Amino acid sequence: MDAQLDQLRDEAIAAIAAAADETALDLARVKFLGQQGSLTTLSKGMKDLSKEDKPRIGKLLNDVRNAVTAALDIRKAALLADADKAAFAGVDVTLPGTAVSFAGKGSLHPITQLLDRTTAIFRRMGFALADGPDIETEWHCFDALNTPADHPARNEQDTFYFPDGRLLRTHTSTVQIRTMEKAAPPVRIIAPGAAYRRDEIDATHLAQFTQMEGLYVDEGVSVADLKGTLEFFFRELFGNDAKFRFRPHFFPFTEPSYEVDIKTSMLGATDRWLEIAGCGMVDPSVLEAVNTKRGDRAFDPEKYTGFAFGFGLDRLAMLLSGTPDIRYFTNNDQRFLAQF
Ligand code: PHE
Repeated sequence: MDAQLDQLRDEAIAAIAAAADETALDLARVKFLGQQGSLTTLSKGMKDLSKEDKPRIGKLLNDVRNAVTAALDIRKAALLADADKAAFAGVDVTLPGTAVSFAGKGSLHPITQLLDRTTAIFRRMGFALADGPDIETEWHCFDALNTPADHPARNEQDTFYFPDGRLLRTHTSTVQIRTMEKAAPPVRIIAPGAAYRRDEIDATHLAQFTQMEGLYVDEGVSVADLKGTLEFFFRELFGNDAKFRFRPHFFPFTEPSYEVDIKTSMLGATDRWLEIAGCGMVDPSVLEAVNTKRGDRAFDPEKYTGFAFGFGLDRLAMLLSGTPDIRYFTNNDQRFLAQF
């Protein structure tokens, strides 16, 4: 048995050293160490050995197994190193790399870019950033904004309601209320964020879109301030030749209310007015709703006036970039996104 073991070890080590690739090496492993391998077969002879021989041969068996295993590991590492070297053959690692194209580097989403730009413009005018939850109470979304229970905006067909009566906010005007609940005048905030409506999705509508809300409440705030602020803002975006029209409109929470139309050569069709925002002077009943909730007269409508506005960033992004279909902004198509 001693001689057999010696011979087996030498044979195995020679076969392993001769293995030219991983397949050959694996065959050698199976041949010597596998379940039907020669070493396994030899170990089965242990039971026929005398008591005195057993420990010595047992140790020898172990030594051979260890030696063969070690030889397998060493050969495997050598084969891997050879393969690495072969892969690098002919590659000059001192050459400069291939530049990554701009599209490959990635960039901010066009809506995010516009959001950053609009935020920067309003911050220069002294507007602070405010925030509110997407899941809202009916009170913050409607009642406090002077929107009675029978108003069409509250219809189940237009709004996503939860079983507990809460809803996905249909506009960011909710942040007007949330801000005034916590702060005292003067208040000058913008609130960008998602708004949700049960709209059929088409080229100009999404069920979730992005709004920018604004609110300024102080002593003596007038329609002139509202017009000046919005005109300045939209000129920053659309250029100095832009013309504006404040067209009378109705919102429950502002009085008077307007929609803002723009006409600019930047948008090509110079003879067409495009609606870009809703706005107006904060309705005294909104200030009173806030006072009632607060339990004080912090927003006394006899003393304070304010303006509010809201517009869709997706719509603006479409106009500014000449994008014909709003769904491009949510399709995640690299060919579209890489252009920004
Ligand atoms: N919340 C209105 C909308 O979603 C926009 C608006 C905001 C109008 C503030 C007036 C004042 O259409």
